[in-house]
Amino acid sequence: MSTLIVESPCRLQGTVNISCAKNAILPIIAATLLTEDRCRLEDIAALEDVKVMIEVVNSLGAETNLDGANTLEITAKKIERNEASYELIRKMRASFLIMGPMLARTGKVKISLPGGCAIGSRPIDLHLKGFAAMGANITLGHGYIEAYADRLKGESIYLDFPSVGATENIMMAAALAEGVTTIENAAEEPEIVDLANFLNKMGARVKGAGTDTIKVEGVRELKGAAHSAIPDRIEAGTFMVAAAATRGDVLIEGVVPEHVKPITAKLKEMGAEVNEYEKSIRVNATERLKSVDIKTMPYPGFPTDMQSPMMTAMCVAKGTSVITETVFENRFMHISELKLMGAKIKVDGRSAIVEGVERLSGAKVRATDLRAGAALIIAGLCSDGPTEISDVYHIDRGYINIEEKMKGLGASIIRV
Ligand code: EPZ
Repeated sequence: MSTLIVESPCRLQGTVNISCAKNAILPIIAATLLTEDRCRLEDIAALEDVKVMIEVVNSLGAETNLDGANTLEITAKKIERNEASYELIRKMRASFLIMGPMLARTGKVKISLPGGCAIGSRPIDLHLKGFAAMGANITLGHGYIEAYADRLKGESIYLDFPSVGATENIMMAAALAEGVTTIENAAEEPEIVDLANFLNKMGARVKGAGTDTIKVEGVRELKGAAHSAIPDRIEAGTFMVAAAATRGDVLIEGVVPEHVKPITAKLKEMGAEVNEYEKSIRVNATERLKSVDIKTMPYPGFPTDMQSPMMTAMCVAKGTSVITETVFENRFMHISELKLMGAKIKVDGRSAIVEGVERLSGAKVRATDLRAGAALIIAGLCSDGPTEISDVYHIDRGYINIEEKMKGLGASIIRV
């Protein structure tokens, strides 16, 4: 297990390039199962989670080839197996996104229930509600789900919560269903729009992605397509917050400013200077940040994935901030780690009250989920003395070469 050591505080300066969005690429890889033709995904970020998703579609019979230029070709000519292995699903819950495509393509899928994880129970009831409404026959037993459907039928489905995964899974299933499917109270994240764009390139008829109502008119078959996914708005947000928290001056390149509006708004409220350009954003803060109150919400609200990095910035801001996590029920695991570094945080139900301190102090801490790991790197950059972060594999799931990118901005950070 590798460890990252942030050796000293650092005001980040310079330019950093953002990689493609993990949470766009994962469902798009699953969507390639909907056609027997070849699909090409360019400039993918070869993250751990992406490698697992490639393994999953491989295990079902798809041929894949990832070349040195990070172009991934996938051809699911023949689906040889209808069961995704227990180990793979346990490794990464997003593998559950193959359920919709497999039901639509073959009418049969057996998949182990994805486990919960550090941030919550992560149920899949809304995914199953959608498939059942479309005519799938679903049985649960021994930790597995089995689902069958001769041909899925278009239906109108209301999501009790605008779940990203459920919206994606149902949209992919609906692409080959008979008739029109309407998803009400759908998630509006940019990754949903990117998946819809890929599906439409394959010949699907998806309308309304990015709003709370998505209509999918099923077609008989889909063809191969080429695509390059949107930039990772959470990686971009992480570097924006790191620049502001360390009172640095950073140009973040290859980002869609629209996608990070909530972070821009909050950093401005905290007193940072944020300038938006066509495909880049510059964040600089000469003064210590001011406190701010934040509530995480589904897009276009403040993203839950930015809750822990933003909490770190609050830890060294002037004044007391309140951050409320409304999306996941247990996404405060990083608080005990931040307190080891001298942060003053009290938890009150789904809210954390953060009393800003001048400086944190380096300590031995543990990454509890991929975003919490990134938050601890930012904390290390705002601390006196070295910070040792263990369980770095969490961070590698969502950030490609994070220590290289931080070094490029002046940080002294090593992986041992
Ligand atoms: C996606 O997870 C992301 N993962 C998460 O990013 C992100 O935090 C989350 O969306 C919210 O934005 C990927 O895209 C691979 P949800 P997902 O379904 O789809 C409840 C990261 O850091 N819910 O929108 O699993 C659920 O319990 C990861 O990259 C149900 O109740 O999120 C949660 O409270 C972490 N029933 C809420 O909805 C369901 O059937 C949001 O979950 C499904 C979800």
